[in-house]
Amino acid sequence: MAKKKLFIKTWGCQMNVYDSTKMADVLSPLGYDVVDIPDNADMIILNTCHIREKATDKVFSELGRLNEYKSRREQTGQSTIIAVAGCVAQAEGEFITERAPYVDMVFGPQTYHELPEMVAKATGAYGSNRVINTEFPTESKFDSLPSDSQDQHVSAFLSVQEGCDKFCTFCVVPYTRGSEFSRPALQIINEAKSLVAGGAKEITLLGQNVNAFHGDGLNGKTWGLGRLIHELAEIDGLKRLRYTTSHPRDMDDELINAHRDVDILMPFLHLPVQSGSDNMLKLMNRKHTADTYREIIAKIRDARSDIALSSDFIVGFPGETDQDHKDTMKLVEDIGYTLCYSFKYSPRPGTPGAKMGGIVTEQIKSERLQELQGLLNKQQHTYNVTSIGKTMPVLYDRKGQKDGQLLGKTPYLQSVHITAPDRLLGQIVDTKIELAHANSLAGSVVTTETTSTTTEKAKEQAA
Ligand code: 5AD
Ligand code: SF4
Repeated sequence: MAKKKLFIKTWGCQMNVYDSTKMADVLSPLGYDVVDIPDNADMIILNTCHIREKATDKVFSELGRLNEYKSRREQTGQSTIIAVAGCVAQAEGEFITERAPYVDMVFGPQTYHELPEMVAKATGAYGSNRVINTEFPTESKFDSLPSDSQDQHVSAFLSVQEGCDKFCTFCVVPYTRGSEFSRPALQIINEAKSLVAGGAKEITLLGQNVNAFHGDGLNGKTWGLGRLIHELAEIDGLKRLRYTTSHPRDMDDELINAHRDVDILMPFLHLPVQSGSDNMLKLMNRKHTADTYREIIAKIRDARSDIALSSDFIVGFPGETDQDHKDTMKLVEDIGYTLCYSFKYSPRPGTPGAKMGGIVTEQIKSERLQELQGLLNKQQHTYNVTSIGKTMPVLYDRKGQKDGQLLGKTPYLQSVHITAPDRLLGQIVDTKIELAHANSLAGSVVTTETTSTTTEKAKEQAA
């Protein structure tokens, strides 16, 4: 079979990164090999994100460039398939085909297993036709996606749950990804084993609402995420587990206790609160208060005292007053985060928030974002500085930009760079932290032996 080149450009969350590897897996038997640069690609897929408005604009400007690329190739008799996948495709399928008629395929996140049929249709096997596929099929895509992944990363993603039934009033996800769905535990465990066999030492379990996971267990009962984590921790060769993204309401005791009991579950938790004001949390339909969030965090810290905490924040949601913003600043002071993401509210079509009154001006949004980010950056830097002098097990998963440089992650998800031989790539190496920057740490290797799988040492030092 003649080999063809496939380039996938991915925006947005880790779920999209995972989906892109799955699309590559599905297209591989059709002769498509993934390439790192778009030059000479026979198929280009834009895997898009719809969470904030700038993402959509970027897709259209990228499509303009691709139109020129496609025309240039046509002049030399070469054809190119241009596809838009992901959440923009789901939300704006018709609009894309109207505005960019040179796009051959538009398909939503639940349809990737149908790619072979879509490609056949687009390439004229049944008479050339444009494909728009934004259905939510009744069968799960996970039943037909290959479980043998070509993903050979030492740090791999594994999707366990998808969709969301929470309907936060600012968020488009329940509309683009559909309602909540959990994969059966057996399917997940098999995929995890295949990732470990392919070289993964760390697996991050993914879901839009990952801790709402409630999949069929091996014992015929429904399992929550805590139970699943216990089971995955038994896989030989797996050294680290993480999960993201969680909702405060789904932090049940089994999951919280897994942070105490499961050695390979890393001491880092991304638990978005969005705002520290009860008024805002109510308008956002978060279904918890700032104090119940504080209580959940206290329980998690009881279970694992050294846990590093992370959150997302939205400033300038409709109706947000100066006092509401102060409440957010106070919550950040109270909790103490190590790594956060914060955004200006951007109204998404079709969500309740987009119709709410009390719009906050761009000017005020910018001021509040700047103040919040100032505090979050300060907390992150202070936290990183406390790492100096400690020895931590770091999983080196990438080469750095400079010659001889490796990049890795501490158990607390801090980025570390060192100068070290390539053979340490893919290893967990005891590393002495010597420098702290705003977003990363630098250190040197203590021992070139692979360390124990546990984070006991890190725990002792943090205590
Ligand atoms: N405007 C700004 N930020 C948003 N997020 C989700 N929807 C919006 C929106 N409409 C942020 C939330 C969420 C993160 C993934 O993106 O903070 O947790
Ligand atoms: Fe969006 Fe809220 Fe669901 Fe998270 S929990 S995906 S913010 S609706």
